[in-house]
Amino acid sequence: MAHTADQASAARRFSASGPLTGTIRVPGDKSISHRALMLSALCVGTSRITGLLEGEDVLATAAAMRAMGADIVRDDDGVWTVHGVGVGGLMQPEQAIDMGNSGTSTRLLMGLVASHPITAMFTGDASLSRRPMARVNDPLSEMGAEFNASPGGTLPLMVRGISPAIPITYRLPVASAQVKSAILLAALNTPGTTTVIEPVATRDHSEKMLAGFGAPLTVETDDDGVRHIAITGPCDLTPQDIEVPGDPSSAAFFIVAALIVPGSDLTIENVGMNVTRTGIITVLEQMGGRIERLNQRTVGGEPVADLRVRASDLTGITVDPGIVPSMVDEFPVFFIAAACASGTTITSGLDELRVKESDRLATMARGLEAIGVSVEEREDGLVITGSGGTLLRGGGPVATLLDHRIAMSFAVAGLVSAEGVEIDDTRPIATSFPDFLALLDSSTGAA
Ligand code: S3P
Repeated sequence: MAHTADQASAARRFSASGPLTGTIRVPGDKSISHRALMLSALCVGTSRITGLLEGEDVLATAAAMRAMGADIVRDDDGVWTVHGVGVGGLMQPEQAIDMGNSGTSTRLLMGLVASHPITAMFTGDASLSRRPMARVNDPLSEMGAEFNASPGGTLPLMVRGISPAIPITYRLPVASAQVKSAILLAALNTPGTTTVIEPVATRDHSEKMLAGFGAPLTVETDDDGVRHIAITGPCDLTPQDIEVPGDPSSAAFFIVAALIVPGSDLTIENVGMNVTRTGIITVLEQMGGRIERLNQRTVGGEPVADLRVRASDLTGITVDPGIVPSMVDEFPVFFIAAACASGTTITSGLDELRVKESDRLATMARGLEAIGVSVEEREDGLVITGSGGTLLRGGGPVATLLDHRIAMSFAVAGLVSAEGVEIDDTRPIATSFPDFLALLDSSTGAA
């Protein structure tokens, strides 16, 4: 894969490549990595974490937990050791906590701070400072925490926690694992039973991991299929050894790349297969993608498989909005797959994409237009008419707007482009997938 790199802006052009072949591994799951650090930091005693994602977002969580008293060390062999402070033991941070680009760190930590007698000031980069926080502040305010946010309810934002906090029953108004998790984390140090009612199921790593760390947590599904998740606090957590499986959201870039680059036959090992995360595989299979699940097993309490992905002729589809929560982060790269399919792909129910690291509907629509793809932007989705397997025109530069998944998606588009695809900045990729460029180069035979 030929490319030019510009150090100042880290712009780069991605050009048509040979097939993706061989066997690769993607880094640890981002959602699980954040939670592994936070829950370990809330134990009394020592936990060990292997396979932790060492991307900027997770490192921001580690730094924040250190700032609140946890002792977190990375050993030379890549194992992370965490000596926790115990539930109720978080200490007053001495300075503002810089969350960088990470919405998950910010929202989950707001929950933790909310039920401790400490005050924390959260700051972030330009992208994070535009993202809505009221969705977390509202339930945490009901629990007694106080918030002083910037105009518009955004960062920089001060949280004044309270102990004892007040238990609540809260029905999620948006399908958000971050909001659910913030409340469940606040509940750990809150006397009484806090219940989150989840009408639309979202990723369930918090529930699984809290139970694994010994929290008294129950999950009941009522007659309408609505989940009721309850924790009775205050409770202690027991230190664990955790193995973090590979991130399906990171694997998605390589799955799509291998499907659309002719002749590809790529195996991605150790990919998390939690059904609350694998909507992308289901939808790509519906389009004709050849994705085999090999060696299915359990890692760190999560289902895992090796995925063999072969180049496939994809056909456009109408995506069922019901599947959106299980592939919410995968739409940017899914849109690249749609751009290469024959026929039209229609998506809807994607309002939440507008409040991710960028407005992903607008950012993807502008980027797709810039590389010659026929796209219609609707209020809650995109309609894309694909190339039917012929090369995309290419062009750019595509504006990535501090959004790692936009950058990686257009890098993948470049592999099937006539003129190459230039993206303005590859640096945001380090938030979730620091080795992405090297892995892309090696699996396409460019390195
Ligand atoms: C995450 C939840 C999702 C997802 C994010 C990670 C988590 O956000 O987009 O990348 O780890 O809980 P929402 O809760 O806003 O949907």
